[in-house]
Amino acid sequence: MLDPAAVEAAFAARYGRPPSLIVRAPGRVNLMGDHTDYNDGFVFPMALDRAVYVAAHSRSDRVVRAFATRFDEEDSFALAAIARSDQRPWSNYVRGVVKALLAREPALSGADLLIDSDVPIGGGLSSSAALEVAVGFAFQSLNGIALRGEELALLTQEAENTFVGMRCGIMDQFIATLGQAGHALLIDCRDLSYRAVPLPSDVRVVVIGSRVPRALTASAYNRRRAECDEAVRRLRPALPHIAALRDVTPSDLARLGATLPPIIHARARHVVSENARVLEGAAALEHGDAAAFGALMNTSHASLRDDYAVSIPELDHLVAVAQAAGCYGARLTGAGFGGCMVGLVDADAVSAFVAAVTTAYRRETGREATAYVCRAADGVRRIASAA
Ligand code: GLA
Repeated sequence: MLDPAAVEAAFAARYGRPPSLIVRAPGRVNLMGDHTDYNDGFVFPMALDRAVYVAAHSRSDRVVRAFATRFDEEDSFALAAIARSDQRPWSNYVRGVVKALLAREPALSGADLLIDSDVPIGGGLSSSAALEVAVGFAFQSLNGIALRGEELALLTQEAENTFVGMRCGIMDQFIATLGQAGHALLIDCRDLSYRAVPLPSDVRVVVIGSRVPRALTASAYNRRRAECDEAVRRLRPALPHIAALRDVTPSDLARLGATLPPIIHARARHVVSENARVLEGAAALEHGDAAAFGALMNTSHASLRDDYAVSIPELDHLVAVAQAAGCYGARLTGAGFGGCMVGLVDADAVSAFVAAVTTAYRRETGREATAYVCRAADGVRRIASAA
């Protein structure tokens, strides 16, 4: 956890006055349901006890200044002309969100921002959604704009889709906004209804980072989306009622799958089976059945690796080592193409598990894996007010 007092002091040192508010928006880990959100399907993430912090004070002019502590860089732009920044990619998350808010609230005031974070960047824990949601919530608070959590999630997703150019689904922004301490959320990404499921007290969620930076995520990710759209287009003549892969049942696919090109069939098989796993897994966890949930995590990884083709050898290796090291189950989490795995581990076995996995990973790959034992945290909040 970052110390809010240090964030406040850094803001004051930089801008010569204290911030009027500090906002905290968490990263996330997804326990089940990857690449289902943009298919109107189900996801099961939790918000992390690692977060992006934004300290802010409004300005009397229409200028935004943002300093990113992690990059030691400042960006500034006028509200009147918000364009993409090629020099500072991190700033596009700020610019995109401000631009989206401005379309709703043309009278938005400028602001000074200081951004700090303990979510690993590019590590698959959604540091970018946390940044978007923190910035959106800070501007919303500074300008007295009342957005519901779902609205803020949709607005920040829209900013990432249109301004950053990553056609992400709603999961990351939704959990960064509406996460609940001690719970994972079962989210229906079609109507945005959700149910909070308490995590059993005797299990721990352990994230282990491959330390392989994610590469070409946006282009490969957008291609997967297009493949899902193609599956729906090709299945629709036989299934006129379907609007998304969410509406395709396992028996539909068993009957019609052979009519699809093999790659499109495989992508659809992942999404259809993963949706079923999320519902089954959330119900199992609600009954405290960690073993049943873990078995589904293992199947989910195989499906992401073989049918959806978003794993990489290092992640497959990490997951295999984890599965052999004594956990309920393990899988890659998030978009894939690098990033991290998540394992569900008995509370008493955590240290032995982490030691076994990191040692085996180092031996095989020469890389140091990073392990986080996560606690499920709340979604975005204002954490301090100096003014
Ligand atoms: C990224 C996207 C999410 C989701 C995951 C995969 O994190 O931002 O919307 O699609 O990948 O589940």
